[in-house]
Amino acid sequence: MAKLGVGVLGVGRMGRCHAENVRSRVPEAKLVAVADVDVEAARRLAADLEIEHSYASIEELVERKDVDAVVIASPSRFHLANVQAAAAAGKHIFCEKPLALTIDGIDEAIEAARRAKVLLQVGFMRRYDPAYAEACKRIEAGEIGTPIIFRSIGRDRQPPPLSFYQSGSGALFLDSTIHEFDLARWLMHDEVAEVHAFGGTLACPELVQFGELDAGMVNLRFSHGAIGNVESFRQSRYGYDIYTEVVGSKATLRVGYLRQTALTVLSGEGVSHDVVDHFLMRFAEAYLNQLRDFLRSVLRGSEPSVTGEDARQALAIALAAARSQRDSRTVLVAEEARADTVHSAS
Ligand SMILES: NC(=O)c1ccc[n+]([C@@H]2O[C@H](COP(=O)([O-])OP(=O)(O)OC[C@H]3O[C@@H](n4cnc5c(N)ncnc54)[C@H](O)[C@@H]3O)[C@@H](O)[C@H]2O)c1
Repeated sequence: MAKLGVGVLGVGRMGRCHAENVRSRVPEAKLVAVADVDVEAARRLAADLEIEHSYASIEELVERKDVDAVVIASPSRFHLANVQAAAAAGKHIFCEKPLALTIDGIDEAIEAARRAKVLLQVGFMRRYDPAYAEACKRIEAGEIGTPIIFRSIGRDRQPPPLSFYQSGSGALFLDSTIHEFDLARWLMHDEVAEVHAFGGTLACPELVQFGELDAGMVNLRFSHGAIGNVESFRQSRYGYDIYTEVVGSKATLRVGYLRQTALTVLSGEGVSHDVVDHFLMRFAEAYLNQLRDFLRSVLRGSEPSVTGEDARQALAIALAAARSQRDSRTVLVAEEARADTVHSAS
């Protein structure tokens, strides 16, 4: 069977990971080309992965007839335009989160894919992590009873490089906490109705110039009455710490671990072990599973598991959190989604 031709756009931290996975770990796919506005970086990655083609733009990438699907890992502010370009060329699309930065933008992205009859999947990879996937299965099977409380924390060891912010990614709630918001909907099998967020630039003064937060705390109320709380922090210093808890009426599930390898050192100085360092390490398996699932959906012609609608709901929560933090008030998620539409129509 002919392999699916894949092109990767944006060859930074995520793009490289996706390109490496397509190149050597997805038997159904062939990495045809990579592209990046930094064409030297694209050339270097192409050379590293021993592929022939590298380009400076998505337009050149999607012009290729042997590219069936595009993986978009450019900075967040370009996602919408990139999705539209890929859809217009009839390419299936995997796009990193957030799919766009506004609700209208998400709707335009979904519409572009619908019109072109191409698949659109969004990068909420935690759903593909074995522990999270197992937790979801058990919740669906009723093992914990009715989910009552959702708690999740996401702490990076260090903030992303400043270039990440300079190029148009990095808004805390939209780019980072959005993973917890997606988990909240997915694991609680409910929509978040209301949020109250706090945040600040408390540990990383270098982020002040971008007007970005480094710490955020968001209280959630779900539409059926369950409650939750999520935390994001850019600089734990001790490691990449992702931890989620779902408390149910019958049992509680905890997902997350700090230790990367199964080695513990016990000595006169105490007990020590290593710590997960980075998202590329913690979620390596999830990134691969996610890509495989997307490409298999393309091959089967089936609906993707994580849809544009999922991206829309998670973004609405993130925008509501951002507004709540700015205005120092509780915000209804529905109100925020409507506000976005009204705002951009005026
Ligand atoms: N799912 C996850 O766990 C996860 C983790 C990190 C980042 N991300 C997302 O992936 C995206 C990329 O993040 P990153 O950490 O790889 O960023 P990065 O800064 O490391 O890389 C971005 C790359 O895009 C290139 N670029 C800039 N403008 C471009 C354009 N217009 N077209 C094409 N390429 C362009 C840059 O030259 C750079 O090589 C962001 O949207 C981010 O939110 C997702």
